[in-house]
Amino acid sequence: MSHTIVIFGASGDLTSRKLVPALYSLYTKDRGDDETRIVGVSRSKFEHEEFRKSLRESTKKFVGDLFDNETWEALSRNIYYQPADINNAEDFQALSKMLEEVEGGEPSGRVYYLSTMPQLYEKAILQLGAAGLADDTNGYRRVIIEKPFGTDLKTAQALNESIHQVFREDQIYRIDHYLGKETVQNIFALRFANSIFEPIWNHHYVDHVQITVAEEVVVGRRAGYYDNAGILRDMFQNHILQLLTITAMEPPARYDSTMVRDEKVKVLHSIRKMVGADFASNTLRGQYKGYLNEEGVPPDSQTETYAGLKLYCDNWRWKNVPFYLRSGKGMSCRTSQIVIQFRQVPHILFGHKTREPVGNRLVIQVQPAEGIQLHFETKVPESEMKTRTSTLDFSFNREAGGKSHSDAYQRLLLDSMLGDASLFARSDEVELAWGIIDPIIAAWKSPAAPPLHQYETGFWGPSEASPWMQQQGREWFDVC
Ligand code: BG6
Repeated sequence: MSHTIVIFGASGDLTSRKLVPALYSLYTKDRGDDETRIVGVSRSKFEHEEFRKSLRESTKKFVGDLFDNETWEALSRNIYYQPADINNAEDFQALSKMLEEVEGGEPSGRVYYLSTMPQLYEKAILQLGAAGLADDTNGYRRVIIEKPFGTDLKTAQALNESIHQVFREDQIYRIDHYLGKETVQNIFALRFANSIFEPIWNHHYVDHVQITVAEEVVVGRRAGYYDNAGILRDMFQNHILQLLTITAMEPPARYDSTMVRDEKVKVLHSIRKMVGADFASNTLRGQYKGYLNEEGVPPDSQTETYAGLKLYCDNWRWKNVPFYLRSGKGMSCRTSQIVIQFRQVPHILFGHKTREPVGNRLVIQVQPAEGIQLHFETKVPESEMKTRTSTLDFSFNREAGGKSHSDAYQRLLLDSMLGDASLFARSDEVELAWGIIDPIIAAWKSPAAPPLHQYETGFWGPSEASPWMQQQGREWFDVC
């Protein structure tokens, strides 16, 4: 079966920066395989050729050395453009006709990729339904929806309801690009393909877990969107809770989309609800200095650009193990990492007069230094019986001979064509995640909100973050 990828919002940044380069890279790998067409849809008026030309330049820029003219020419013969206004039903009829033409009347699978403004998602889906474009008698029909999926639980539920009027859940692919990252998928391998970690992956042996997604960049030109979203909506409801569920979930009986997502959903159900004073003691909020000067940010904005949360999973495996989650813009460096800090030995034999042993720690580096490090104590050579921390270091990059691996969108687009939704969020997952984040957002807007700490860019967020951890007898793993 051939595939047609229909991208709504085709004149936008995501299409040129991520989607078409990802489809190009997939094409270089599977040239002999099924035919794949790309149909761009947006309001601007373009001829097919003009659209191809503009994509050629951006693809060249984003795929770098992988680009070659011959491959591009072959791929671009299958790139088309159709102008359409999402509010106009007739434009969807025209799109339907055009799709049949380019598919030559043959059965073909279709992925509708919604990369428009989120306010248009519902309308676009209803129009697809009304124009008969969701009918899957002549090949699969799937829809990919970019984040944000709603702005809170209520809007996410309403959006799910509208989509379910047109598409079945198994046709809906809610994208979270973190799940497309190799290093995130590798957490499944680390946990469920090894027998050495699983027996200690629980409250008996783990003291706490830290999940950090730090970004050096500031908000910049995205301030219009960002000031309404803030870091909890932008990073926690999706990417960071996804990292948490994969770290904390039980092994599924099979690696398939239903069983994997069932287990992730159980983790979300287990997250302890914060009440009353918890919001002040278990959350930290910050805004980088200079945020108020970003273009489009109101001078009195209280939007958070940093958040730290302490969550608990009230279940058998994780009882009373804190999960510290933090993310911020304008931090010291770009790093996403998960730290599993194991408990210290019950009885310390060797002289640590000046420090506690800091080993017993597994660090999963999601990016940019993709790899895994195990920190453990070893004897200081030629000394009395003293220990220091040493590291076993696995690097994806070294393993791959210096070649970097595929971009997340390649994997996710391919999976959507193959019909594997394991790495996409299910409706219940998205709603449960909002159910965790919404009360924190509400508490932060209430008169009893914890203070919004100002922080200098280029460090690890508000200076209050370190004493907050120290009061709990712990420290952040601040390593770039
Ligand atoms: C996006 C957020 O979802 O993820 C951005 O909207 C953020 O604010 C980005 O910068 C981070 O993604 P990555 O892959 O660069 O870590």
